[in-house]
Amino acid sequence: MGDIDPAFIQSTEHRPKLSTFVQVDEIPIIDLSEASQENLISKIGNACEEWGFFQVINHGVPSDVSKRVEIAMKKFFEQSIEEKKKVKRDAVNAMGYHDAEHTKNIRDWKEVFDYLVENTTQVPSSHEPNDSGLRTLTNQWPLYPPHFRETMQEYAREVEKLSYKLLELISLSLGLASDKFHDCFKNQLSLLRLNHYPPCPFPDLALGVGRHTDAGALTVLAQDEIGGLQVKRKSDGDWIPVKPTPGAFIINVGDVVQVWSNDKYQSVEHRVVVNTQKERFSIPFFFYPSHHVMAKPAEELVNDKNPAKYKPYNIGKFYANRNRSDFNKRKVENIQI
Ligand code: SIN
Ligand code: FE2
Repeated sequence: MGDIDPAFIQSTEHRPKLSTFVQVDEIPIIDLSEASQENLISKIGNACEEWGFFQVINHGVPSDVSKRVEIAMKKFFEQSIEEKKKVKRDAVNAMGYHDAEHTKNIRDWKEVFDYLVENTTQVPSSHEPNDSGLRTLTNQWPLYPPHFRETMQEYAREVEKLSYKLLELISLSLGLASDKFHDCFKNQLSLLRLNHYPPCPFPDLALGVGRHTDAGALTVLAQDEIGGLQVKRKSDGDWIPVKPTPGAFIINVGDVVQVWSNDKYQSVEHRVVVNTQKERFSIPFFFYPSHHVMAKPAEELVNDKNPAKYKPYNIGKFYANRNRSDFNKRKVENIQI
């Protein structure tokens, strides 16, 4: 075994403890086919409040669509690095392949492929770089495996549908109209990421993804049977592994829902640990409102006893300048208009 590239090494306090690799069943599993809408909404609300995370089963995404995406993803990542870099992300292209992701300036032990949902009225297929400093948002597609683009887009449309359903349930759980936030997703910029975490000889020093919160409204994540995702438990700050449930999606609240709910639901930190033996694959769908939207707490949730904790801010600017301290500066007590 050689030495680890120092770019991957986490500071001592953020290194994973090997004992936390044990898998426990704690993150709630919610059956979306539950007959009682009232029960369903209450389970979702409780999970959002307690964990910021839950898993869903009977979610309506066909298993054959998920299977096709899994096979195509594996075939893509199996190729040589030279082949994969033919569709690489760079200073101009924000979408495509990337093998040097960093979280909080530490390199993540993984490679990724990013793409946007196409062919819906919701998402334009191409954007010019704009004043929030974004690069051109146009998809790049590899020639191999065949039908990669169609397979990825078919999957994207299914998880997008599920995301709208979840957004409605979350709105209802906050006592808001089910379509309260629909307009925020006109011209949305939702993004899919294929993650490949190769085996790592240094699982006590490096992470697949360092601790972070998700920027968008919601994340809908498919993970394989290997495990590695850990969620920071709100009650004590311990890192709790999310045990893989076959066919389930893992849902988490992002920063935008934290703001909309005026902190009732929080965007919880999570990270990914790696292991010495097995590669792991996962696919998050980041459900992002449009860049022109001004995020602010829902007026129905704000009153004299519970004043707004955030001043309105432009989501595009927030995405472009994002880091955790910046997010906290959006809080009313820290903001000068
Ligand atoms: C992420 O949170 O960015 C990835 C989650 C995972 O791979 O489980
Ligand atoms: Fe994440």
